[in-house]
Amino acid sequence: MCGIVAYSGSSDEVLPTLISGLKRLEYRGYDSAGVAIQSGKKIEVRKAVGKIVELEQAIATKPIHSSGSVGIAHIRWATHGLATVHNAHPHSSADRRIWLVHNGIIENYQEIRSQLEKQGIKFESETDTEVVAKLIGTLYSGDIRAAVLQAIKQLKGAYALAVVSQDEPGRLIGVKLASPMVVGVGHDEMIIASDVSAIIDRTKKVIYLEDGELIDVRGSDYEIVGFDEQPAEHKVEQIDWDLEAATKQGFDSFLLKEIMEQPRAIEDSIRGRIVLDDAMVKFGGLIDVRDRLKDIDQVVLLGIGTSYYSAKLGELYFNALTDIPTVAVMAPEFRYNKNNIGKNTWLIALSQSGETADTIAAIEEAKRHGVLATGIVNVVGSTIARITDAGVYNHIGPEISVASTKAFTSQSLILLMHAILLGRSDGLDFGQAKSLLQKISQLPGTIAKVLEQCDEIGAIAHKYEKAHNLLYIGRQYNYPVALEGALKIKEISYTHAEGLSAGELKHGFIALVDEHLPTIALATADALSDKMMANIEEVKARKGPVVAVANEKLSIADDTIVVPSIGNDLLQPIVNNIALQIFAYSVARARGLNIDQPRNLAKSVTVE
Ligand code: M6R
Repeated sequence: MCGIVAYSGSSDEVLPTLISGLKRLEYRGYDSAGVAIQSGKKIEVRKAVGKIVELEQAIATKPIHSSGSVGIAHIRWATHGLATVHNAHPHSSADRRIWLVHNGIIENYQEIRSQLEKQGIKFESETDTEVVAKLIGTLYSGDIRAAVLQAIKQLKGAYALAVVSQDEPGRLIGVKLASPMVVGVGHDEMIIASDVSAIIDRTKKVIYLEDGELIDVRGSDYEIVGFDEQPAEHKVEQIDWDLEAATKQGFDSFLLKEIMEQPRAIEDSIRGRIVLDDAMVKFGGLIDVRDRLKDIDQVVLLGIGTSYYSAKLGELYFNALTDIPTVAVMAPEFRYNKNNIGKNTWLIALSQSGETADTIAAIEEAKRHGVLATGIVNVVGSTIARITDAGVYNHIGPEISVASTKAFTSQSLILLMHAILLGRSDGLDFGQAKSLLQKISQLPGTIAKVLEQCDEIGAIAHKYEKAHNLLYIGRQYNYPVALEGALKIKEISYTHAEGLSAGELKHGFIALVDEHLPTIALATADALSDKMMANIEEVKARKGPVVAVANEKLSIADDTIVVPSIGNDLLQPIVNNIALQIFAYSVARARGLNIDQPRNLAKSVTVE
């Protein structure tokens, strides 16, 4: 989704910092890019459709000589209007003296546009953002901060804006409401960006702006105020990961790197959180709300996409290990249904990015009913981490590839640990909990064994590389993994795939089965193995090719991906999913696709 970078510092550093910042935001997904830089008395602008390399080309063709100390830049993921140069950011005031970049959505832009058009103002784009630039222009009388504060009074929606004026060289304004914005505090320089990856190579010191705040930067001095102009206190925080974590480290894609680093990532998710002698789980992030956990009578797990599928797995975990009714709800649906929640409901929101607009909106709605809202979030300091009452971080390092992999593994595991935590105060037996916790400790090693078979899984995937459609079937704990496996291959290889409960097959899907429709069957040994074998027979009886994911070679299947057994029905699906990740990656790679940035997708979906 859109990303912004803005810089204040040395004139030599403006352009390189903006471009390298944009490159680090590329993973968010975009289709055009642009920069605006103070040059002499003017602000020079370059924009291009396509990748950042096209923008660099545009700059090489018509160089910008940065003589000022500030600049703003943007990658745009088209929402209002096609990906064109006109629609690309930065956008300007009518007199082209004020320029801004925007991440978010202005809901009432049509209304404001009509008013401005009545005043004779002409528009060059179809975007909601241009309306903000033009509006600020009409309110400007020499103080950009005052004009921005006046303009935002009229805006409805979500925005992170970075604004510069050619009449105030060296001044940069950032403003935030319901869209992410982080400020890097460097040595004699400041960088404003949509997330820390754009900042991390310059400084690890950051400030997370709150909603309803404005930062006024002049050189390396800054002032943060609320929209009411009252000073806002902020501590400078230290980022706990480094640039290396945000590089491919020799892998052909971030996706492969993120799949392969899962043993370490999962070690990090578990570390310090298991107290084996007490058969207990300890989450420092939940200590402040532990008294409220005693009165919980319902659990709602919230997420979307991969985070919803881990919530589906969590639903099964909670219902297996506690007596507290638990349901997984898809975040975009939450606000439009009567969810029967109340002050004894525990809402657990799952989000890798912590910035997903649908999930944020659902949390806000749930909080109006007095629920206890906590998060399972990867990005430290993100919106969901801040708007929830408490929460647990994944601690898996940055996930850069658009398709989520290690986040699913960590989310599922942390949900299992939440279920054990709640279960232990709700009748879950000491022995069962202890044995589960011992198995959890073995998970990184078991995942490592799956990863050792990357080549074998790749060879099987290549046999199915040309398939146009795939079915993924699983039962019980493997059902959410079938859904996630199908999502993964859709996203990165553009193969149509359906995930379903194997029990659903004969209720409709089996009509599709023939020799051209391969089925991926999650058939590791568990309580429902016999039923899964019967489902595989049904597919084979209709000549459907079957790829089994099993603990040993299955003669009935055309191919078997053999995965190690972890000896536990609740954890085995997490292991099986690693094989499905490699399968999807291998198909996408064989097809020569852009694995990390699949078409039309954004990493962080910050609009509803
Ligand atoms: O950051 P989040 O976990 O909230 O993101 C939710 C979904 O947008 C995300 O999982 C999406 O489905 C991924 N592309 C899946 O690979």
